[in-house]
Amino acid sequence: MRKLLIAGNWKMNGSQSMALALCRDLVSGVAPLTGIDVLICPPFTLLHRVSEAVSSSIIATGAQDIDEHEKGAFTGQVSADMVRDAGGSHTILGHSERRVLYGENDERIAAKVHAALSRGLIPIVCVGESREQREGGHTDEVVLGQLDPVIGQCGIGAFSKGIIAYEPVWAIGTGLTATPDQAQEVHSLIRRRLADHDADIAARCRILYGGSMKPDNAAELLDQLDIDGGLIGGASLNEDDFLAICRAAADRAVPKSG
Ligand code: 13P
Repeated sequence: MRKLLIAGNWKMNGSQSMALALCRDLVSGVAPLTGIDVLICPPFTLLHRVSEAVSSSIIATGAQDIDEHEKGAFTGQVSADMVRDAGGSHTILGHSERRVLYGENDERIAAKVHAALSRGLIPIVCVGESREQREGGHTDEVVLGQLDPVIGQCGIGAFSKGIIAYEPVWAIGTGLTATPDQAQEVHSLIRRRLADHDADIAARCRILYGGSMKPDNAAELLDQLDIDGGLIGGASLNEDDFLAICRAAADRAVPKSG
């Protein structure tokens, strides 16, 4: 039994007017859909506005990152409490753009996961290999090498609430997509690693695919056994594309009982 999650990561895009127009279309577009959860992660400046705009719908909101500290002298940073105060319930953490462009290491990402969970935010922990790492045959070790520190520092219980996103770096924003088989292979690897610690948590944890998911490839990706949704970048900025992916998910979702 699974309920698919379609999450949009707007990255550093959007304005008040764009956000409100997009939210209006998304709220009406998802209204008839069942069996899915939908999440939007706009930039911090839009989070409150977007949270209000979608409050009457199934759409939840989240941040794209948080700081690991609760408060204090951390100029420019935003805490888990601030995200909740702005209406967010989730946060993306460890996105490859944070890892590569801002030098975030596994230890810091695990600290952020801990901060999110302890302040009531659901983390979406991103893992994924670069093109060189895949071509060198290192995908499994890279992905598990990013996952294990979170389990080690936060405990497997982190994933009774937490979500994982497999985002092959070579597929992000490139138009290249992992084939359904390639994606399924890594998703299955991740689930097996979770199961080594706790079979129940492994069965329930949602593992999203991210990396150029579009309306024309969403269905075959979401058909895979261990793909429980998508983390969508570019296509989440276009209401027609994002809603088409939501519909593909709804067509495949099995509503959870109870
Ligand atoms: P794209 O869908 O634009 O490839 O972005 C994926 C991503 O990074 C979502 O977090």
